[in-house]
Amino acid sequence: MYVSDLALTDFRSYPEALLSLDPGITAFVGPNGQGKTNLVEAIGYLSTFSSHRVASDAALVRHGAARAIIQARVVREERPSVLELELVSGKANRARLNRAPLPRARELLGMLRTVVFAPEDLSLVKGDPDGRRRFADELLVLLSPKLAGVRSDYERVVRQRNALLKSAGGARRGGGSADLRTLDVWDEKAAAAGAQLIAARVGMLRSLRPHVQTAYERVSSGQSEAEVTYRASVQQAMSDDGGPDGGEEPLTNPDLVEAQLLEAMSKLRPKEIERGVSLVGPHRDDLELRLGGLPAKGYASHGESWSLALALRLASYELLKSDDWQADGEPVLILDDVFAELDNRRRNRLAEVVTGAQQVLITSAVAEDVPEELDGARVDVMGSAVTRVR
Ligand SMILES: Nc1ncnc2c1ncn2[C@@H]1O[C@H](COP(=O)(O)OP(=O)(O)OP(=O)(O)O)[C@@H](O)[C@H]1O
Ligand SMILES: [Mg+2]
Repeated sequence: MYVSDLALTDFRSYPEALLSLDPGITAFVGPNGQGKTNLVEAIGYLSTFSSHRVASDAALVRHGAARAIIQARVVREERPSVLELELVSGKANRARLNRAPLPRARELLGMLRTVVFAPEDLSLVKGDPDGRRRFADELLVLLSPKLAGVRSDYERVVRQRNALLKSAGGARRGGGSADLRTLDVWDEKAAAAGAQLIAARVGMLRSLRPHVQTAYERVSSGQSEAEVTYRASVQQAMSDDGGPDGGEEPLTNPDLVEAQLLEAMSKLRPKEIERGVSLVGPHRDDLELRLGGLPAKGYASHGESWSLALALRLASYELLKSDDWQADGEPVLILDDVFAELDNRRRNRLAEVVTGAQQVLITSAVAEDVPEELDGARVDVMGSAVTRVR
């Protein structure tokens, strides 16, 4: 698939921007701070409803404006659709598809698939579990859009459950008694949605794993082996008393996971009430990354960490292209400022992989940083002037 047209209104630095794009390679070139990343960030946002740069949407709306609009014409197997998203900070997004409003914005998810490579990816390896969970969930939703609903239900349930745990803790400390029956109901809801999410993540990870291994071998010249494992907080909670954690297999069965979550919640209830937060479930899980048997975080060198981050993105691209998940539509590749960060070897490897893609959007402050084999169209970006050069 590819994006043939992009229109922005009050997005980031752009009051208005209109841009036509071709399949193949396009490089956005211009000095720092001129709005190159802003353009590709808009396309990425339309695909996952999240930015690769910021956690909150507030910064996406142009300073002083009330809302931002991203509109793109996406061509998938020769069939065009027009996707539109309106962002109002602090409120839910509103979406339209071919000009018709959608009852829920998340119905737009899955219509445009992107894989974004950016300097921020280093935090997949070096940063907190939160970034890795987001990585897993965004990929999962691209592969299986209906899981967006499960994910947002789960997040809502955890928020409400936490509020209830907090008030139960307050009641206990004040000498009263907590409303445990209501809490039971929320345990059940959290376990049901949480189990679906965990089973789906682990299933996805199983398909992704071989791609991560090959991609890492390719970018690192096979010095060591990359491993990625799912760390489930529910298994950790249950094995605290010395039992085995059961391995990955049971995690692919939602019924089993649901039962384990309920058991763990009842075991942890006093602690959860005391702390006022939910201590088990997919929101506390992690993807553990290892290189040559050692945890990548804390052990891997800077270059190794970069290779692994790159491998995770390349693997996502391969998985989205493969039909393991009845995935249709090759994703658009977005390479935001990555070439300047990579050494020659990794630069060439990445260039090799992306030359075959249907559409590749590259940003770079200097044209010379883009490898020669990625020669294609060029768009000069200067403030809000976006001009196609060739
Ligand atoms: N919400 C906003 N409202 C107005 N301007 C914004 C907003 N968010 C970002 N900007 C402006 O956009 C510019 C940054 O744009 P962008 O990150 O796309 O630059 P770039 O061309 O990718 O630069 P670099 O080469 O340094 O990566 C900055 O000048 C910033 O002030
Ligand atoms: Mg940039």
